[in-house]
Amino acid sequence: MTDINTAKSNIEKTGFLDVDIDVNIDLFAEIERLKKEKNAIILAHYYQEPDIQDVADFIGDSLGLAQQAEKTEASIIVFAGVHFMAETAKILNPEKKVLLPDLKAGCSLSDSAPPALFKMFKDKHPDHLVITYINCSAGMKALSDIICTSSNAEKIIESLPRDQRIIFAPDKNLGGYLNKKTGRNMVLWNGACMVHEIFSLEKITKLKLRHPGAKVIAHPECEDAVLRVADYIGSTTGLLKYSQQNESKEFIVVTEPGILHQMQRSSPHKTFIPAPPNNSCACNDCPHMKLNTLEKLYLCMEYEQPEITMPQDLLVAAKKPIERMLEISKQYGL
Ligand code: 13P
Ligand code: SF4
Repeated sequence: MTDINTAKSNIEKTGFLDVDIDVNIDLFAEIERLKKEKNAIILAHYYQEPDIQDVADFIGDSLGLAQQAEKTEASIIVFAGVHFMAETAKILNPEKKVLLPDLKAGCSLSDSAPPALFKMFKDKHPDHLVITYINCSAGMKALSDIICTSSNAEKIIESLPRDQRIIFAPDKNLGGYLNKKTGRNMVLWNGACMVHEIFSLEKITKLKLRHPGAKVIAHPECEDAVLRVADYIGSTTGLLKYSQQNESKEFIVVTEPGILHQMQRSSPHKTFIPAPPNNSCACNDCPHMKLNTLEKLYLCMEYEQPEITMPQDLLVAAKKPIERMLEISKQYGL
């Protein structure tokens, strides 16, 4: 069994505190105790496992989580999500401690845009403004003019003059969808999310035949062919709201299935069918999001590690485009 000091010194390698926990501990009660004792807040994304969502103080999409991080008065932010989300919370709160249960909870979309390569791409497009999806590293944010999320991207683009040249990064699917919606011709970086790219159009079409009354609701990170068959396209919060407000009884949900927990909770009499991927796996979980567990969450709160840290100059450079996003969102009441 690893002791806590060895686990702490191994954290760079393991990504989390790899120690055994007494099986008799009530983790839910312990996490509540730690929240109060340490004045800590747990912010969780909808793609987290149900147990984590159940102990969170706020569950939301990327915009909602950034807004909560900006306004919280807690001393410690425990981020149950992936690295770029916790990093955003730290950028907005440099003086606070921001914890992530597993530092290796990354994001394939974020990884698809290494800052050094993007810098070369950006230099080839002078006169272009850079709008970057929040699913990117702090280094990418520092190279951007405005950050956006799937719930405010359209408004952010439309707030700019029609003749403004724009680079959109890193998600080519979201960028393509936004080009269609806004009638712009943004230059797209060739990145994508491994989870949203593998939904099977063929299997969704077959599901739709078996459930003719079901609404297909999809996240804009999906490929164009999938988005074309969707009745509604939106961020995770948008999808949840649509499922609550639409009168259909069945929904085929084309995003990471963690969102089904809140959908089922708020509409217990409706049926939510997770869309299948085009491989032999039964589910389409995000392997990064699912690296966080209730045990790791408890340990990171107890020992206040792993913690998000970054150089001061990066914090400052990455903050500007996030603040710009939050300002524009406020202007539009988002
Ligand atoms: P939103 O929650 O902003 O819709 O983003 C989904 C996502 O892929 C987060 O990683
Ligand atoms: Fe990244 Fe896709 Fe996972 Fe979201 S679902 S964290 S975009 S890999």
